[in-house]
Amino acid sequence: MKIIRTKAELQSAINHNDKIGFVPTMGALHAGHLSLVKLARENSDFVVASVFVNPTQFAPNEDFDSYPRDEKGDAAMLESAGADILFSPTAEVLYHDGFDSDIKAGSAAQGLEATFRPTHFDGVVNVVARLFDAVKPDIAVFGEKDYQQLQVLTEMVKTYNMPVEIIGAPILRDEHGLALSSRNAYLSADELKIARKLNVIVRKCAQDKNINSAKETILDAGFKKMDYIEERWGRILVAAWLGKTRLIDNISVN
Ligand code: PAJ
Repeated sequence: MKIIRTKAELQSAINHNDKIGFVPTMGALHAGHLSLVKLARENSDFVVASVFVNPTQFAPNEDFDSYPRDEKGDAAMLESAGADILFSPTAEVLYHDGFDSDIKAGSAAQGLEATFRPTHFDGVVNVVARLFDAVKPDIAVFGEKDYQQLQVLTEMVKTYNMPVEIIGAPILRDEHGLALSSRNAYLSADELKIARKLNVIVRKCAQDKNINSAKETILDAGFKKMDYIEERWGRILVAAWLGKTRLIDNISVN
């Protein structure tokens, strides 16, 4: 697996007759990310994964500076999952080298995450459009873990006629049902125990549709604050805080 940092090098390393699969990430990879790489492998001939901690999708009070970074570890994991290229650009390459885009997130970006992170999805669509321009993939895989993001990006490719097929990948969970996340690394041992209750409560809510009771149970379990728990797109979607860590999850109501 090659590590590539510029768009020109990337395009010359790609065979344009191949069906190109793409998995964008912010690194600090775990098995959830690798399941996306495997799905991309199954649906394409050549897999590019990117690692770029995108400053424009973090608000000033969020964890951009402390977001875990481990390129060596990420590269080893991507190679083992079958990626052909790790594209790891600088902000300079992505934001100041040619491609000029100022696209906006559409209607899927209303409410839920956007209520609490109002600039987040504009940052996401901008960086993903730039990454698509650099990689020129045929398919791109995103996790259902960030369910609203998956909807926002599906809407983006439709609205802007981008020639990419978006594929959603199921949420990978630990043996207690906790959705794997790079931010789980912030949790203390006690917080981890509480975090593992979230999926159980949301799964029950997906069955009984009792949002108010789920809210109460989440706070009783030891979460400090709820941002939201709502039903949309046939899922119960939740965001809640444990100490300084914000956890999200979602489960299908069917
Ligand atoms: P990041 O949080 O690194 O996630 C990269 C991809 O991995 C996303 O599509 C996310 O939904 C998926 N993912 C994370 N945890 C998962 C899990 N437990 N199971 C399945 N998929 C999982 O999402 C981003 O980065 C950024 O917003 C990005 C799209 C790269 C734009 O900067």
